[in-house]
This record gives sequence, structure tokens and C-alpha cells, in this order.
Amino acid sequence: MCGIIGYIGHKNAVPILLDGLARLEYRGYDSSGLSVMNGRGNLRILKKVGPLANLVKLIEPLHLDSSIGLGHTRWATHGRPLDHNAHPHGDCIGSIAVIHNGIIENFQELKEALQKKGHRFSSDTDTEMIAHEIEETLAKDKVTLEEAVRKTLQKLKGTYALGVMHQAYPDLLIAARKGSPLVIGLGKDENFIASDVSPLLTETRKVIYLQDEQMAVLKRNECKVKNLLGRTVRSKIDHVSWNLDQAEKGGFEKFMLKEIHEQPGILKNVWMGRIDLKKGSVRFESEILTSLQIKVIRRVIIIACGTAYYAGLCGKYILEHYTNIPVEVDLGSEFRYRPIKVSRGTLVIAVSQSGETADTLASIRKAKELGCRVLSIVNVVGSTLTRESHSVIYTQAGPEIGVASTKAYLTQLAAFYLLSVYLGRAKHQMPDDVAETLLSELVKIPDKIQWVLDHQESIKACAKKYYRAKSSFYLGRGFNYPTALEGALKNKEISYSHAEAYAAGEMKHGPIALIDKTFPVVCICTRGSVYEKMISNVKEIQARRGKLIIIANSKDRVLEELADDRIEVPETLEELSPLVNVIPLQLLAYYLALYRGCDIDRPRNLAKSVTVE
Ligand code: M6R
Repeated sequence: MCGIIGYIGHKNAVPILLDGLARLEYRGYDSSGLSVMNGRGNLRILKKVGPLANLVKLIEPLHLDSSIGLGHTRWATHGRPLDHNAHPHGDCIGSIAVIHNGIIENFQELKEALQKKGHRFSSDTDTEMIAHEIEETLAKDKVTLEEAVRKTLQKLKGTYALGVMHQAYPDLLIAARKGSPLVIGLGKDENFIASDVSPLLTETRKVIYLQDEQMAVLKRNECKVKNLLGRTVRSKIDHVSWNLDQAEKGGFEKFMLKEIHEQPGILKNVWMGRIDLKKGSVRFESEILTSLQIKVIRRVIIIACGTAYYAGLCGKYILEHYTNIPVEVDLGSEFRYRPIKVSRGTLVIAVSQSGETADTLASIRKAKELGCRVLSIVNVVGSTLTRESHSVIYTQAGPEIGVASTKAYLTQLAAFYLLSVYLGRAKHQMPDDVAETLLSELVKIPDKIQWVLDHQESIKACAKKYYRAKSSFYLGRGFNYPTALEGALKNKEISYSHAEAYAAGEMKHGPIALIDKTFPVVCICTRGSVYEKMISNVKEIQARRGKLIIIANSKDRVLEELADDRIEVPETLEELSPLVNVIPLQLLAYYLALYRGCDIDRPRNLAKSVTVE
């Protein structure tokens, strides 16, 4: 996720900004940059792709000294990680600098309107448009910088945490927030802005958390918080007591827990600009398939590894249900070595958080040689997979630091739901009412996930009760069979206790032999077409005295009686239930690992990205 730091005061901003950027590195980034004033009162923007050291090398020989400045670490969402896409972004004449975290949904139409007025753009980002819009408003409306920023903000749809400076206003720094976090740091004769408190801790502990649709107008010895109508609003000054480690994790114990809690917000962002409730349709940032390419699709092969493979397996249930296209799912390590026949009309979908997984990459190279079209679902913009695929759907999960994938999995599922609407509508397989029901329920999912996050006590209690178990089963059916697989993988990889998932109907074909009165079995039993079948499987376990941990919807009297431990989740469409049901399993794995004293963010023997075969 992009990092923001800004300074206005009586010291040289350059070392403060560079130090702040170094403290923001933990968030993950692909490029960095800063803007300051040089000795002649001109704005300088310096930026570089790659590690922060590249930027430092560029800046050091210049011996810049400026009492105002903005710094940014970028994690690409629009446009590849290249020098010209790094922030800050400027206007046509280089007098404005803007840094931004978030996604501007309507940037394309605003950009086109500005281009028609003669503005020249030098990046592929949504952010640059903001600098030009401010430039245009300043020139056209003859207003102050503060007023021009406010008028610009009123035009933006989407999310932003922004920092703005202008060479004609060397004593003014403007910040604004909607949807993306932004903190103001208050010092003595100096003020700061930052995307989180971690870069501020060495400078000040007095902060204001800016609220949505608020602007901060900062001078060296003044901080005014205003709403988007320009009225000053009262804001609370907080005192931060966190140390740096706590601050980087947003106050959570571990990155994994932080990332689990980020999921509702991320999902809202994923829907933003893509779901059109009025039209009952979905659009992506760029064309992923032409109408002819969609028309000829007869078969889909999904390829992935690990958690992404389980997302792909769920993708099969989703795509087959909503589009009627037959789907196979293969592991990258299998597909690449098996003889495979493809015909015209085979679409290969590769799924990967990192976009660098060796087996997935080798598989898509093979698929391309066989003449297949390759569409990828990827988190990391600019990764090898994005470059080698014909088209890409970005999952927009932001950088995932915990080795155990959580938000990446959820957003991979989200991509499959969006794709199913996109293909289902285009292939006339999804009637209006089905699209309407699906999309209107999708936008409610973030709140349902939030509900699970707010009711973790039963999950913690379960973990406390069972953390000594040597082995456990995870059972699900239909859409939630992949959820069970993902839950068991999370359990294994971070708590180092054995866990196995089965399609519940498979139990009596062998695994049930292991059940005794000490054996925990996690059963996903939310309401839907396979509910009764799950109840039968639950009774089979109960008859063998296995310990039943049941994920259920509220007011389920049957399960209340059968369960040893019950974890409640809000009800949704059966087809969408994997998005909600995976959350308690992520948390269960987390707390099991915590009670077992494991290194949750860096589990032994595992790497975040598996770039070798
Ligand atoms: O980067 P990718 O999504 O391609 O990675 C695939 C797997 O290595 C990854 O999902 C792995 O299984 C995770 N550690 C699971 O939490």
C-alpha cells in the first residue's frame, strides 16, 4: 500500500522525508519519490523505481535544503512500476506536486476532459489527473490553492489520501482524506502528514486522525482542519503511545491479523468502479477480452498453486454456476508436465498473488505455446505474470506481508465473482434478476465480514480449547469445499499442526477411521443446497464422538444441539458464502498458532513467493 509523508517547518525537509520513507518501507512498495523547493524557489520532483536507495542516490549529490516537502512510496495500482509512474506527480508547468494513496474511479473521464483543454500527461496513473485539475482550476477560477484543491476534491469519485504543494505557496501544505487513512503530526513550529503514525514517531506523538472528506491546511505553526465546504471543523488531538513495531502493524499483534482486519475495506475498494448496480454489470479498468474472444470460449482451465489454487477451485464453482462454461482447475506443478489437448476456445486463467510463482509461470508459457489465451488474476502490478499474460484482472489487495495469504485469497475470490458477471452477461447466461441479486448481495459482503471480525470470542475460545490437538479435519461441500481446503492449509502452515480438508461426502470412504473422542472436525454448515447433506455428515462424526466445531448461520437450532463449539457467521447467498466463511477459518488458524507459540508472520520453511520449481 502506498506510503505518504509530508513536512512543513523550520528544519530541512529532505532528511525527514527520507527517514520517513524508510519507516514506510514495511508497507511494501515498488518506487519512491519526493518533492521539495530548491534554493531558487522552484519546485523539484525526484523519483525512482526500485528500492529507496535508488532515490537516495539521486538526491544526495543535489544537497537540497527545503523547509517544505512531500515523500511517497508507491505500490502500483494504475500503470506499471516505472520512474514516470512514481509519485509525486506534477501539472503541465511543474509548479504543483501531488502524492496520493487510493483509487480515483472517474480519473479517465476527468483526464480526457483535461486533455481536450490542452493538458499534457506524462504518466499512466490516476493521480496525475489531480495535479492537472488543480492547475486548471487555479487558472480558470482565479482562486487560492486551498480553494482549487477543494473544488478538485469535489469532482473526485473514489478514495484518496492526498498531499499537495505548490511552488507559489512555499508556506502551505494541503492534505485531504476520503477512504484512505491520513494522519497529521503536530510539532513545535512544524507539522507533518503521513499515511500512518510509523514515520512520525521520532518527530512527534501528537496527532490528528483526519476523517473522510476532510482537508488539513498546514502552515509551519498552524493546522486547520476543514470540511469540503471550507468550514473549519473541530478535531481531536490524540497522543500515540505505540512503539514503532506496533505502529507498523497498525496496533495489531501481527501483520497477518492486520491483513485479516483490512479485508472489509479492501473488498469495498475492489467493488468500487467495477460494479454497476444500476446496469447490473461489471467493468474492469481495461478490456480483458473482446466480444469475439468471449463468444468463442468453450472451456476454461484455471492454473495456480497453494492458496491461489484453492481460490481457483472456488472459481470453478462460481464460473460454472453463473456462466455455464465447463471449468477445470490444475496445479501449476501438474499442468506444466502433463500432456494436454486444447482446442480453439480454451481460456486459461492463472491466479497468483505475487505473479512470480515459478510453476504458474511455466504453465502459462506452455498454455501460450499451445495457442491458448491467458488471462491472469494477480495482485502485484508489473510482476512477471502480468507482463506475460494477454490480459490481467488486478486483485487490488495491496501488499501482503504475512506469509500466510488472507486478503489475497479473498480478493482472488472477488475477482472470480466479478469475472462471472462479466462473462455471464456477455454470453447471455446470466439474466437481469440473477445479476441484480448477486451484485446487490456482493456489496453487502464487507459488512458481513466486519460482523465476523467484531465477534471473535467464540473463535478464540475454540482455539484455546483445541490448540494441543495433533490433527484435525476441515469439511465442506460445494462452494465451501475449497473454503475447507483453504482453512486446513492456513491451520497447517502457521500452527504446524496437521490438518486435512475433505469434501464432506468423502469422509466415509476412509478418513472417518481416524475419528475418536479427541479429534476436532471443523464443519462448514451454512444454509444452502448442501445443508442437509452436511448435517448427515456432522451426525456421522457425532456418532464416532468426534469434537464438532461448526461454522453456522444464526438461529440454527439443529446445529446448536449437534455442535461442541459453534462459530456464527452472517447469512448470505450460498454462492457468496465462501467470502464470509473463510474469515473465521483465517482467525481460527491465527489463534491456534498464537496459542502454540508459532512465528505467525514468518512460518518456518516457507517463503512469501515461491520462485523456484
Ligand atoms: O504468489 P502466489 O499466489 O502464486 O503463491 C502461491 C502459493 O505459494 C501461496 O498461495 C502459498 O500457498 C501461501 N503461503 C498460502 O498462504
